[in-house]
Amino acid sequence: MVEKMKNTSVLSHILDSHPNLIVFALDDNYNYISFNQLHSKIMKNIWGVDIELNNSIIGYIQIDSDKEKAKKNFDRALAGESFTTVEQYRVKSLESSLFKETYYPLKDENNKIYGLGVMIEDVTLSHSNKEELSLIIKQLENQVDKRTQELEKINSDLQEENTKRIESQIELNIVKSQIEKALANEMELNKLKTKFISMVSHEFRTPLTIIQSATFLLEKSYERSDEEKFFKNLDKISKSIDTMTDLMENVLNIGKLEHGEIKASKKVFDIRQEVKNLVENHKSYSKVVKMQLPEENVFVDSDKVLCSQIVNNLLSNSIKYSNEKPKIKLKMIADGYSCIITVKDKGIGIAKENINNLTEAFKREDKISSLVQGTGLGLSIIKHNLELLGGSMNIESELEKGTKVTIKIPR
Ligand SMILES: Nc1ncnc2c1ncn2[C@@H]1O[C@H](COP(=O)(O)OP(=O)(O)O)[C@@H](O)[C@H]1O
Ligand SMILES: [Mg+2]
Repeated sequence: MVEKMKNTSVLSHILDSHPNLIVFALDDNYNYISFNQLHSKIMKNIWGVDIELNNSIIGYIQIDSDKEKAKKNFDRALAGESFTTVEQYRVKSLESSLFKETYYPLKDENNKIYGLGVMIEDVTLSHSNKEELSLIIKQLENQVDKRTQELEKINSDLQEENTKRIESQIELNIVKSQIEKALANEMELNKLKTKFISMVSHEFRTPLTIIQSATFLLEKSYERSDEEKFFKNLDKISKSIDTMTDLMENVLNIGKLEHGEIKASKKVFDIRQEVKNLVENHKSYSKVVKMQLPEENVFVDSDKVLCSQIVNNLLSNSIKYSNEKPKIKLKMIADGYSCIITVKDKGIGIAKENINNLTEAFKREDKISSLVQGTGLGLSIIKHNLELLGGSMNIESELEKGTKVTIKIPR
């Protein structure tokens, strides 16, 4: 018995010494059979009461809903059930608020339930635990932050990479379209080359044939002392040589112009006199071109050769595209800033839709290309020359009615 007492008192000592374990036992009327010190302390804290053995715990609980809750748990234990619940008490005076409660029935030797035992453990975090936890949380938060930053960096790197990829894709597309363009240009150029070769060989063959036959006839007329025929053939030869010279000059010119090898070399000269000489000294021009020039000299600070090429090509076109009897008017007017030259013919005219294309090298109107000789270089040379001189050109034309080309050369 002493041993048993010893055992009991040690046991109650153990229960009283535990820092946060509440233990109490009730009989089947909820009266206290036993309780440890922490329980009485807590009851004092919560309800402000000094609990005593044999008094009902229910009498100490002052809130009805709490009473009901407690009774329900007690009754379950009294009915023979052992169970554990976690309860939260929102009591201001208590720092702790989370409790693990274990309820179990108390049985006598005959296994008859005479009451219940309750063990309540405060599982609210202690202050130091809280600190430790908040430290861990902080560490975790830091880790999450770090990881988030890393992820953000990876994300922005990826986005950057993506942007770069899109950019290089765009660049690639640009390069691709450039290559395609270059290829198309190359193909166009090849076509032009073929056209050019056939044009040149054709254009040269005709005057050469004329020269060949005229030379033969020249000899014959010389032998026969037929002066008229002699000079007629001589004229044919000289015209053909002119044609070939013009052709050669144009071909050589366009190459140089398109490669930017020709620069305007400006000097002051009298363009009125220059144009007058050009028409009067050219056999085929002098007969058909009616000039309307200013009374006075027109001095320009320009390139004489480029200007002559322009007028020459305009006149040769008007003659070429004027059928049998060309009637050409060349008009020059000048003001303080520019000299304007208009060449007007009553020839075959140009279809409206073609007017703007014909300044491209080798471009000719389809319908005339087999009928009238030409290289398709004249208008292109005029355009290039005017660019070098800072001038401009305007073509007005109507089919079957004629063509009027106006050029403006700055003085
Ligand atoms: N005065 C004009 N009247 C009618 N057509 C013209 C005239 N001038 C130029 N053209 C048209 O423009 C084309 C290009 O002229 P141009 O570049 O001088 O080359 P080409 O005279 O060698 O054919 C000519 O083939 C012709 O179809
Ligand atoms: Mg021409």
